[in-house]
Amino acid sequence: MLKVSVLASGRGSNFRALYEALKDGKSNARIVAVISNNSDAGALELARSFHLPAIHLSQKQFPSPEEFTAALLRTLESHGTDLIVLAGYMKQLPAQLVRTYKYRILNIHPALLPAYGGKGMYGHFVHEAVIKSGARKSGATVHFVDEEYDHGAILLQDTVDVDPADTPDTLAEKVLEVEHRLLPRAVKLIAAGKVEVRNGTVHITSE
Ligand code: GRF
Repeated sequence: MLKVSVLASGRGSNFRALYEALKDGKSNARIVAVISNNSDAGALELARSFHLPAIHLSQKQFPSPEEFTAALLRTLESHGTDLIVLAGYMKQLPAQLVRTYKYRILNIHPALLPAYGGKGMYGHFVHEAVIKSGARKSGATVHFVDEEYDHGAILLQDTVDVDPADTPDTLAEKVLEVEHRLLPRAVKLIAAGKVEVRNGTVHITSE
C-alpha cells in the first residue's frame, strides 16, 4: 500500500479530488496525512472532515530552517510516507527533503511545463501569462519535484484550448478540471508500479 502525504497551502480541491479517487480502496494507495504551512487552509479543514490527520507545520513555528526541515521529515516518517504530493503547496521544499524523497514527490502545476513555470509563476500569474502570450493551448502538468521550481521530470500532461474570450479566471477553471483528473491518475500509476524513471526520464508502462 502506497502511503501518500499531501502538502497543500490553499482550498485543497486537488487534495479532495485525490481523496475521492482513492477512497474506494481499489487502488493500492491511500492518503495518510495532510500537512499545510497555513493554519487556515481549506485543505486542513477538508482533511479533518475526512478524519485524516491534518497537520499545520510552518517555518514560522521554528527558530531555524534546519529545525523546520527536521520536524517536517519526522512528521512524514511518522506516517510512513512513501509518496509526497504537493497539491497547491506554495512553499519551496527544503533541499534535504527533496533529496531524501527523490522521485517520491509529485507536484501539480496549472500549465504545460516547461513553459510558464518557475519562481513567481503560480496561481493567476500563470494564466495571465498564458493569455498574454497568445498561446492557443494550456493545460496541467504532474511532475516529480527536484531542487528547482517546476523543473523535475514530467509524468503526465493534458491540454485545454485557450479561447479568445478566456480570462485568467475562466482558464484557471478549465485547467483545474484537468488537474483533478491528472493528479489521481498519476498517483494510481505509481501505486500500480507502472512508473519508472530512467536517466531522468519518466517511463510509463501501459495503463
Ligand atoms: C492549483 O491550480 C495547483 O495547480 C496550483 O495551486 C492550485 C491549488 O488549488 N499549484 P487547490 O488548493 O488544489 O484547489
